[in-house]
Amino acid sequence: MRKKALWALGLLVVALVLASCAPHATQSTLKPAGPTAQEEKNLFIPVFWIAVGVFVLVEGGIVWIVIRYRHRKGQDRIPKQTHGNTRLEIGWTIAPALLLAAVMVPTVSLIWKLAAPPPPGALHITVEGYQWWWGFQYTDADMQVDYGSTPEPITVADVMVIPAGRTVYLSLSSEGGGAHSSNGIPDYVVIHSFWAPRLFGKQDVVPGRTNHITFSAFAPGTFTGQCAEFCGLEHGRMKFRIVALDQSDWNAWVADQKQPGSSPTSALARQGEQIFLNPLSNDRGSCVACHSVGGTAASGTAAPNLTHFANPNHQCFAGCNWDVFNPDGSPNTTDLAAWLHDPNAVKLGAKMPDYDLSQSEINALMAYLFSLK
Ligand code: CUA
Repeated sequence: MRKKALWALGLLVVALVLASCAPHATQSTLKPAGPTAQEEKNLFIPVFWIAVGVFVLVEGGIVWIVIRYRHRKGQDRIPKQTHGNTRLEIGWTIAPALLLAAVMVPTVSLIWKLAAPPPPGALHITVEGYQWWWGFQYTDADMQVDYGSTPEPITVADVMVIPAGRTVYLSLSSEGGGAHSSNGIPDYVVIHSFWAPRLFGKQDVVPGRTNHITFSAFAPGTFTGQCAEFCGLEHGRMKFRIVALDQSDWNAWVADQKQPGSSPTSALARQGEQIFLNPLSNDRGSCVACHSVGGTAASGTAAPNLTHFANPNHQCFAGCNWDVFNPDGSPNTTDLAAWLHDPNAVKLGAKMPDYDLSQSEINALMAYLFSLK
């Protein structure tokens, strides 16, 4: 009996230890990469140890009493019956109240601090939650692009690029896919939650209201994040990345974004551009109903903006489920071809329709997309 209990205990310990193994964890709140996440961790650690102390005291007391006063062989008398102990009861009412009050002071003050308006000079970015991908718009006056009509914010999807060290102020909203609307009411306006564990805690993205996150990254790097609120079939694959650049790389990125999508040079890419911009043959539909490419007639807003699809900092596509480039830097045509061939086969529930694209259409479209630097 004792041997069995020891085995069970041993297995439990091993399971707990193994469950904590994640050598390449990219989303650990315990490895903060910016001041917001750092302050959240600084609050979490003392609260965690207070909770551990309470757990040990209470559970330890229970276990001790269970063992100390257990039933023993030949001991048939009823224990002394007692009722109430005013001193103890006052004690275990006051102690937790004091403990919670002590925890509340730093908690509430950090909530206020994180909710404070951003400092002047912060970079303003709107975050739009769609089913199932994230769109980002840079709304500051010096982040507008002008393709010849009216200036509009730099708009990207899946990867948010920021300058390391500068405070970023996010405005989060939930958007429906316009192309899927019926009677003018957009579908798929649901609650998401925006979370990049190494940079900031979760913030709900709620239809009809705008929430905010203020954060920055200590140093250049790539930080992964994901939706943290169940929002439909593809919720678990609604991912994103935040790429923090040093000042000169940031300047170069902004300069790139202010250019229209580069015009394709190869014949195949030009062919792809025509397929992209025009209705597909046999009434199959049209890419530009949902997608836009700055500087062209494509101006759909229901799906990711593809103006700089092949920019080196645009690391991933389709809800960040696939890398745009292979590890050796070559275009990831394998996953992109599969995605264009039948979106739902590789990402069940995706709102991108299957347009029955032929292999030659797919090859041309990929050549076009990879010309958009
Ligand atoms: Cu969006 Cu879960």
